[in-house]
Amino acid sequence: MIPPEPDVTLIEVAAEEVGAVAEMASRIWPTAYGMILPPGQIEFMLSRMYAPARLLQDREDGIDLLWILIEGERTGFLAAGPVARDGACPLHKLYLLPGSQRGGVGTAAMARLYERLTGSGARSLELRVNRHNAAAIGFYRKNGFLVFAEDCREIGGGYAMDDYLMRLELV
Ligand SMILES: CC(C)(COP(=O)(O)OP(=O)(O)OC[C@H]1O[C@@H](n2cnc3c(N)ncnc32)[C@H](O)[C@@H]1OP(=O)(O)O)[C@@H](O)C(=O)NCCC(=O)NCCS
Repeated sequence: MIPPEPDVTLIEVAAEEVGAVAEMASRIWPTAYGMILPPGQIEFMLSRMYAPARLLQDREDGIDLLWILIEGERTGFLAAGPVARDGACPLHKLYLLPGSQRGGVGTAAMARLYERLTGSGARSLELRVNRHNAAAIGFYRKNGFLVFAEDCREIGGGYAMDDYLMRLELV
């Protein structure tokens, strides 16, 4: 029997909730990246990417930061947008709490995101994923994304991001 799709909804993170997103990221990242990145790099990237001022600036820049809810409970978050002139929509963040992974929630969240993008002019979704994050790469492949480039870049602090760039054509 095919299990039912989880009851997943997306709602915007309010300005006063960005600290809660940072707190959730600090619970997810050590598990997601503990085998991939040194602890110092996890701390460095969390403090840079999830500082409340940075998340608020992202909103100003047109990036949608959304809670992923299961039956109304906060289970993760994603960040996407804005849609570029060529129709490419960046997916910046997609994170679920460890206990909610691998049950179809990520796939359902993507389906909700596609619905939100209807009428936005988005023609593709593009993302960066660490080359060693085999679980996430498997997830994106399963959801139709293909690797179209590789990019290794210095991010400061003596650290680098060694990523695949993946794309899903929406139309
Ligand atoms: C990546 C993520 C969003 C996927 O959401 P999800 O709800 O776990 O994935 P789904 O249940 O919808 O899809 C399952 C598929 O994803 C892949 N996958 C997800 N987690 C996996 C894991 N821990 N190990 C191996 N494959 C995994 C597999 O292809 C799996 O298919 P299978 O079960 O048939 O093998 C979620 O696992 C997550 O938050 N991971 C940690 C954070 C992260 O790496 N985010 C991506 C940053 S770019």
